[in-house]
Amino acid sequence: MIPNQWYIVLEPQEIKKNQLVGVTRFGERLVFWRKSDGSLVCFQDKCVHRGASLAIGEHLGNEIACPFHGFRYDETGRVTLIPANGKSAQIASYFHIKTYPVREYLGWVFLWWGEKEPTTEPFYFSDIDASFSWKSSHHLWPVHYSRAIENQLDLVHLPFVHKTTIGRGNRTLVNGPVQVIQENTISFWVYNEVDHGQTPKKASELPPPDPTRQHIQFIFPNMWQNYITEKMRILVAFVPVDETHTLIYLRTAQKFVKTPGIRQIVDSLSLFFSKIVLHQDERVVITQIPVKSALHMDEKLIPGDLPIITYRQMRDRLLQGS
Ligand code: FES
Ligand SMILES: [Fe+2]
Repeated sequence: MIPNQWYIVLEPQEIKKNQLVGVTRFGERLVFWRKSDGSLVCFQDKCVHRGASLAIGEHLGNEIACPFHGFRYDETGRVTLIPANGKSAQIASYFHIKTYPVREYLGWVFLWWGEKEPTTEPFYFSDIDASFSWKSSHHLWPVHYSRAIENQLDLVHLPFVHKTTIGRGNRTLVNGPVQVIQENTISFWVYNEVDHGQTPKKASELPPPDPTRQHIQFIFPNMWQNYITEKMRILVAFVPVDETHTLIYLRTAQKFVKTPGIRQIVDSLSLFFSKIVLHQDERVVITQIPVKSALHMDEKLIPGDLPIITYRQMRDRLLQGS
């Protein structure tokens, strides 16, 4: 995983008031909980005393208690009570659990994963806001998140994996693609067509990038969108569980239907269709060897794989930079 980045790790509704929610992210056990005012807290889920899981402990409003010997923690991760030592005992400052900065933003929970303090606030696709309605589903894949991301940057697979859905029409020939890189964002436009024996066009022979035309965007470290129209998107967050598992948060978002009732039907149908497409991907992606990709590995890439190559190069640079 690339350190010192804001990662989407959950959705806010997964952490209800007065609950302790234990999940694995980045290969580490984490516990999320809310204080009385609703604000979110995240600890490493490993009691400093003898390593028990706090997620099966007690929620006490603005503190939580370990289920094993009752150590209590405040939201800063400091131990406030060691019951066996008595209420009046001094507590050394090393009784402190590791905490992670977390933020809730546009229906996502972001976690700053790294050693340094956050250098920015979380960011998301700048043209997505609360005027969209959305519906999500979660899917656990037995692959490293790099493989799941690359699948959504893969435009060569469409007529094969998705021949009954979004890849209909046998457009096997890959023109371009047209690609734009801005800071930590990759955007690309797909111009696949039926092969009549013509030579694939270069990006320079295709229309210039048009942000109002359908395109795909990826923001490091784990956010993706299919910009279908200004008012309709498919969004994915690739949540790293561990080195060999990824939770795919699939979300359809739209703002062209606002009428209650009809809006929910549109959101449900749209998510239903996106899940069919995702299952078509899953069938193949989980067979890829190795489960984790790298810039230098035993694969023979082709020009149509450009967004995947770009992803690997940028990922490698961020890893080196950290
Ligand atoms: S392991 Fe948590 S209090 Fe002992
Ligand atoms: Fe796909």
